[in-house]
Amino acid sequence: MVKEPLGGPRVAERLQVLVIDDDATDRMAIRRHLLSAALNSDVHEADTGAAGIALLRERRFDCVFVDYRLPDMEGTSLLQVFYDIANDQMPAPFVMLTGQGGEEVMAEALRWGAHDYIVKDHITGPSVLIALSKAREIFDLKRARHSAEDKLRQAQKMDAVGQLTSGIAHDFNNLLTVILGNTRMMRRRLAEIPPAQGMAIAPKVDAVESAAQRGADLVRHLMVFSRQQELKSATVDIGAALAHTVTLLERTLGKGINLVLTAEQGMRPVHVDATLLENAVINVSVNARDAMPQGGTLTISARPVVFNDISHVLISIADTGTGMPEHVRERIFEPFFTTKPAGEGTGLGLAMVYGFIRQTGGHIEVDSEAGRGTTFRIYLPQAREPLTNKEVNHAT
Ligand SMILES: Nc1ncnc2c1ncn2[C@@H]1O[C@H](COP(=O)(O)OP(=O)(O)O)[C@@H](O)[C@H]1O
Ligand SMILES: [Mg+2]
Repeated sequence: MVKEPLGGPRVAERLQVLVIDDDATDRMAIRRHLLSAALNSDVHEADTGAAGIALLRERRFDCVFVDYRLPDMEGTSLLQVFYDIANDQMPAPFVMLTGQGGEEVMAEALRWGAHDYIVKDHITGPSVLIALSKAREIFDLKRARHSAEDKLRQAQKMDAVGQLTSGIAHDFNNLLTVILGNTRMMRRRLAEIPPAQGMAIAPKVDAVESAAQRGADLVRHLMVFSRQQELKSATVDIGAALAHTVTLLERTLGKGINLVLTAEQGMRPVHVDATLLENAVINVSVNARDAMPQGGTLTISARPVVFNDISHVLISIADTGTGMPEHVRERIFEPFFTTKPAGEGTGLGLAMVYGFIRQTGGHIEVDSEAGRGTTFRIYLPQAREPLTNKEVNHAT
């Protein structure tokens, strides 16, 4: 994930290299070759596997050279330990340093997740630099593939959950319609008999009805998530719609939260269900409020962008709250996923937002890190005609 750092563009970062080898001559050689290549790098050294692992736990490296035979462990075991620590996320590019003629060793090193190797007798300037860049390249390729696979898995999971939810919501909706229809009939009957006679039964009918009504609300949320809700789409001026939503939010969010709205004027309209859109923005904003218990700033902005070659309006909703760790961020759109205490969160807010945006032909993404706030970005395809030309189009 590439991110613009807060304080403007970052100064070119120095390459962080770690050499784990008990042989001081090898460590020196690698250091010397990197420095003489005028690579802007910091070279860290460890002379045992344990010391190397300690450093690897501490910080991120751009490349790690590991001796195959360390005094306290084999290089492959070190790789294994580190892949375990990193939880199967590929932690860094690894170059294995192997003895002469050990082709089996090299193959084994690659199998254990090294990205390249150097035969120890050939620690020369070119071999170090080639191994370094090759390992980094392979590492980047593998990481890109991992993240594409992750995305696919995530999309498949959401589809499966969507299908399941859709079936359940549909059947429940039918059942609740029967229950609510019958409570209505019972009410009508109660109105026809003397109140004294109905007294015992009336509160029970009320209880059934309000429970069924709550169930129906829940089912409606699920239907929005599984894209079965009928959309009442109209041509909507996003700037005006957001301005209206913000007036509602000002009351909901409370004093501690500084609400900023910046919407570009004269954007082409969007074909969208205005009520559901307002609902979506409120849902995301209320989550933002919950993430800023000490107060903070909520910035809602809208501007035109080109996304997947199509003109969209981008609505972004950014907070300065707690942010989310990755294991939370991955799951926020799943129905019933919540980190809030029982009774406070249903876990349906973002599931609804997700379903609605997808049904509208839009796209939603989130950018968040623990301790660094959260930004939701909602892309909605723009209608073809500009708002101001509407009458002209109708006339022709
Ligand atoms: N702006 C945010 N900052 C931090 N965490 C968030 C934010 N928005 C959503 N989340 C996380 O996503 C979860 C799911 O959100 P949602 O679907 O609205 O359900 P709920 O609000 O009922 O928990 C929340 O419980 C929270 O952990
Ligand atoms: Mg919520």
